[in-house]
This record gives sequence, C-alpha cells and structure tokens, in this order.
Amino acid sequence: MTILVTGGAGFIGSNFIHFLLEKTENKVVNLDALTYAGNLNNLNSISSNNNYQFIEGSICNSDLVTQILNNHMIRSVVNFAAESHVDRSIHGPSEFVNTNIVGTFNLLESCLKYSRDSNTKNFRFLHVSTDEVYGTLKNDDLPFTEDHPFKPNSPYAASKASSDHLVRAYNKTYDLPTLITNCSNNYGPYQFPEKLIPLIILNALNHRPLPIYGDGKQIRDWLYVEDHCKAIYRVLSNGCLGETYNIGGLNEKTNIEVVEIICSHLDEIRPWDKNYNSLINYVKDRPGHDRRYSINAKKITKELNWMPEETFVTGIKKTINWYLDNMEWIEGVTSGSYKNWIKTQYDN
Ligand code: NAD
Ligand code: DAU
Repeated sequence: MTILVTGGAGFIGSNFIHFLLEKTENKVVNLDALTYAGNLNNLNSISSNNNYQFIEGSICNSDLVTQILNNHMIRSVVNFAAESHVDRSIHGPSEFVNTNIVGTFNLLESCLKYSRDSNTKNFRFLHVSTDEVYGTLKNDDLPFTEDHPFKPNSPYAASKASSDHLVRAYNKTYDLPTLITNCSNNYGPYQFPEKLIPLIILNALNHRPLPIYGDGKQIRDWLYVEDHCKAIYRVLSNGCLGETYNIGGLNEKTNIEVVEIICSHLDEIRPWDKNYNSLINYVKDRPGHDRRYSINAKKITKELNWMPEETFVTGIKKTINWYLDNMEWIEGVTSGSYKNWIKTQYDN
C-alpha cells in the first residue's frame, strides 16, 4: 500500500518515514513544502530507496494533493504537515492558521473526493495532533483523557485544535475514514534546535547560555520519537475509525530537571573546565505558558497494545549522542535563518 506522508521532511515525519521503510513493506510518498523546519538531509539515507518518493509542495495546494492521491493510488494519508513551534506562533500566528487550519481543510476536501471517486477501499486519513489542544493542568490534576475539553492557550494550540475539529467533523458528517492522535512532547534525532531539548544540547556544546523560561517548573510528558512512530503506525493499521487516541511517554519532568539531566550527561562525556549547568539562565516567561501536560494513554494501551519502550534515561543519552555524531547535520540547520530566529527570540 502507498502511504502519503505530509510534512515528512520535518522531525517526526522523517522519523516516521525511516520507520516505514525499515520496518514495513509500504511505499511512501512524502509531500513537504520545505519550510524552515523541513530538511531533506533528514532523509539522505533513504532518498534513492525505490519505495520512496519526495514531492515538494504544500498541503494548501488542492490540485497537487488530488493529483498525488490519484497518481499514486494512495491508501492512507498521515498528516504531519504543520507549523509546530509555540514561540513562533506567538510572534506570527498567520502561517499557523494557513497551514494548520486551511491546509488540513484542503487535505480533507481532496481526500473526501478521492475516497468517494476512486475504488480505494480501506482508505484512511490519520491526523497527527498534540496534547496542547487540551490546555494546561495543575500539578495535582488527572492526566488528559481523550474526552478532556479543548482549551488551547497558544495560537499554535488553537490552530491544531481547529484542525482536529475539522477532521472529526469530516468523519461525522461525510463519513470520511479518519483517525486522530494527540501526543505529548517528542524528542530524538532530527529535531530542529528551536525546541527545548536540541536547543539546550547545542547551546551547551557551544558554551552558550541555556535559556529557561520563567521558573523552569513547567512539566512536560516526554516521549522518544520512535515510540511515537510505532504508536501512529498501530493506530493507522488497527485504530477504530472516527476515534481519537492519546499518546504519551509516561514520563513527566519539569523543564529544569530535563536541562539538568542533559548537563550532567554532557559533564560525563564532554567534560570542560566548568559544569554545564553553570550556563543555566532564567529568562522571561513565554506568554500564555502552559504549566503542565500529562497524558492518560490507557485507551491506546488497552485497545492497540501500545506502550512506550524507551525510558528517558536511555532516550536522552541516545539523543545527545546522535547530535554529537551528526555535526554536519547541525551545521546545515543552524546556518542562515536559524540565527535570525535565535536573535529575535532570545536577544532580550
Ligand atoms: P516540524 O516543524 O519539525 O515539521 C513540520 C514539517 O511540515 C516540515 O517539514 C515543514 O516543511 C512541513 N510543512 C509545513 N507547512 C507545510 C505545508 N503547508 N505543506 C506541506 N508541508 C508543510 O514538526 P514536528 O515536530 O515534526 O511535528 C509534526 C506534527 O506532529 C505536527 O503536526 C505537530 O503539531 C505534531 N506534534 C508534534 C509534537 C512534538 O513534540 N514535536 C508532539 C505532538 C504532535
Ligand atoms: O506537547 C506537544 C507539543 O510539544 C507539540 O505539539 C509542539 O509541536 C512541540 O513544539 C512541543 O511544544 P512545547 O512548547 O512544549 O515545546 P518546546 O520544546 O518549545 O518547549 C518545551 C518546554 O520548555 C516548554 O515548557 C517551554 C520551555 N522552554 C522552551 C524553550 C525553547 C524553555 O524553558 N526555554 C526555551 O528556550
């Protein structure tokens, strides 16, 4: 079967394509607009694989999407394409509305027409979403279940919540065979260093300050990206149509704990004349900063027998080692516009 992966040149999408080509027999078409976050170097090792094809373009381009669906007889669409960084959504929300809401709408429209016109039985549309749609939790609140009300607090989260609503509506109203996954924070290879974990690793290696927003006690539930890919594939293969599945790492940590773990691992494997945690720098908080995310993943565990396999101790070491072993990749993503972003976000 041919799977259309949108946003497959980004962090999770590229890990998912590696997973598909290494662990399954599927053919993959990757549609990606190659924004600042899209990087074909993430896919160098599989670029000439006969089961893989890259197409540069946007999910907002309905003609292109329709052409791809028909020409490749697509059986499933997995939609990763999005603007994904909360801080950027605060500086400039309009691209988030365009890609995350209008782009998802375009994809749904094209898929609906395609699934009705073609003889494609078993067509499935899986929309990859986030726990941020549920808003924030207090430290003693119960984790988010799939029934938790939507209360998004950032333009990013609001745009993802809107797209989730559209996907749900296309299932309920038009019977489009959809699935939605809402996942917690991912980490691992190929993550763009605007996000906390790779930013801290790279800043530490360059002996630059490690920016902690506010008091650093915000909590995230970290999941190793390969575990997320396995969960998505399980939902795609066996999930119940029209349903939503929460995916989480069973691994809640405060931001300051995460940064200290990274620092102490670097102290061991890359010692210098100071401890890396001496670089920690508390900075102004993110507006609308969610205090805590926590996922109740019992549904996917019970119905689809999925559990995260990686612990944070092993996953973070693998991740740090991956960045140390891939300096050329880092050079590629940190030249040019990355520097402008870091200046805009952190100079004050
Ligand atoms: P990313 O920013 O690394 O990658 C996004 C990709 O989408 C890039 O390759 C980019 O070029 C592409 N893209 C952007 N606009 C596009 C368009 N109009 N058409 C086609 N491609 C376009 O993001 P990520 O961290 O890999 O996240 C992927 C998805 O998973 C997103 O939908 C995000 O909301 C969701 N998610 C992410 C996390 C996380 O921790 N990173 C957690 C849960 C859910
Ligand atoms: O929860 C899932 C979400 O996780 C995804 O939907 C988003 O696409 C993804 O970007 C991520 O969002 P966060 O805002 O949680 O991730 P980020 O890495 O930007 O920040 C993690 C935490 O670290 C958050 O509490 C903010 C804090 N932080 C982040 C940066 C970049 C800092 O303290 N300093 C920083 O410099």
